[in-house]
Amino acid sequence: MKALLCTAFGPIDTLRLRDTPNPVPAAGEVVIAVKACALNFPDGLIVQGLYQTKPPLPFSPGAEFSGVILSVGNGVSDYKAGDAVIAFAGHGGLAEQCAVDAQRIMPLPAGMDFVQGAAFLLTYGTALHALKDVAQLRPDDTVAVLGAGGGVGLAAIDVAKAMGARVIAAASSPEKLQLAQAHGANQLIDYTQCDLRKTLLDCTDGAGPDVVLDPVGGAHTEAALRATAWRGRYLVVGFAAGDIPRIALNLALLKERQILGVYWGEAVQRNPKQHTANVRQLLQWFASGLVRPEITETVSLDKATDAIARMSCGETRGKVVITIANCG
Ligand SMILES: NC(=O)c1ccc[n+]([C@@H]2O[C@H](COP(=O)([O-])OP(=O)(O)OC[C@H]3O[C@@H](n4cnc5c(N)ncnc54)[C@H](OP(=O)(O)O)[C@@H]3O)[C@@H](O)[C@H]2O)c1
Repeated sequence: MKALLCTAFGPIDTLRLRDTPNPVPAAGEVVIAVKACALNFPDGLIVQGLYQTKPPLPFSPGAEFSGVILSVGNGVSDYKAGDAVIAFAGHGGLAEQCAVDAQRIMPLPAGMDFVQGAAFLLTYGTALHALKDVAQLRPDDTVAVLGAGGGVGLAAIDVAKAMGARVIAAASSPEKLQLAQAHGANQLIDYTQCDLRKTLLDCTDGAGPDVVLDPVGGAHTEAALRATAWRGRYLVVGFAAGDIPRIALNLALLKERQILGVYWGEAVQRNPKQHTANVRQLLQWFASGLVRPEITETVSLDKATDAIARMSCGETRGKVVITIANCG
């Protein structure tokens, strides 16, 4: 089979498309013929050895994907060959076949095609976990979403709107903000063109947003935290800008703000019941049209390296999906 391989941790352009042996399912695993694999920001970090998990080499990046089960290992009784599924495996999806622990798959939901299925779980799961479980969002809250034209950002807008909140979307270009608006954002901020703190305060009559969801980090973090409301909740989701901000804790004290970490992958392992309930909620919202992954590009496997590189420097919008087999 063909696989995009990382043979040594290093620059993204060292990834190579190679022929490798087909995987065989170990006990508890299934082998999936991958149809589509969505890119996520950590895919670029994992090949550089900069992510919190470092798979044994060689490996294929690609954390979440969809496909059809080819074979099942001993002890797998919930799935059989031919089942259409989506998988969150952490890596392995940028290949024609992938062996995955059966605990990390679920049936492809009704009404969802393979491309949407590949692009659903990670960003929407993160957004709902962050806003519901961590921030305990209320319908009368105002949420500011940074990086609002990215995968997590657009999912967070959908989820916040589905929960009844008002959304201020902040991003770096009119094109990204246009997508945020199409997903229901009430107010738009281009943070390359203004003082983010002042503009967030202006957008909220001086009170500041009740919740800030920050997948970007860098210089935006302190500005947005300084604008956060009395007893507001600041969600630390990621550092796509590269810098992990160092924040003076008086900013928490002065307005009794809470700075809250979000780690969806770990939360899924620690509280599977909560995860199952969240997925059920997301699928209900998907069925009623309230949440929908914004797939801006579908790209073939031989162009995946370029797509990962573009995503890693903030050039993509919404979700980029690599199509590996016919998704019809
Ligand atoms: N904590 C968790 O559980 C969890 C779960 C999923 C993802 N994450 C993290 O959340 C972050 C966003 O993930 P994503 O999949 O939404 O990524 P994405 O689609 O690539 O979006 C990231 C956004 O960050 C902004 N950005 C600013 N500087 C950037 C730079 N130098 N390079 C790339 N992007 C830059 C861009 O928005 P602007 O151009 O508008 O600034 C971009 O749209 C990542 O750090 C990821 O690791 C965390």
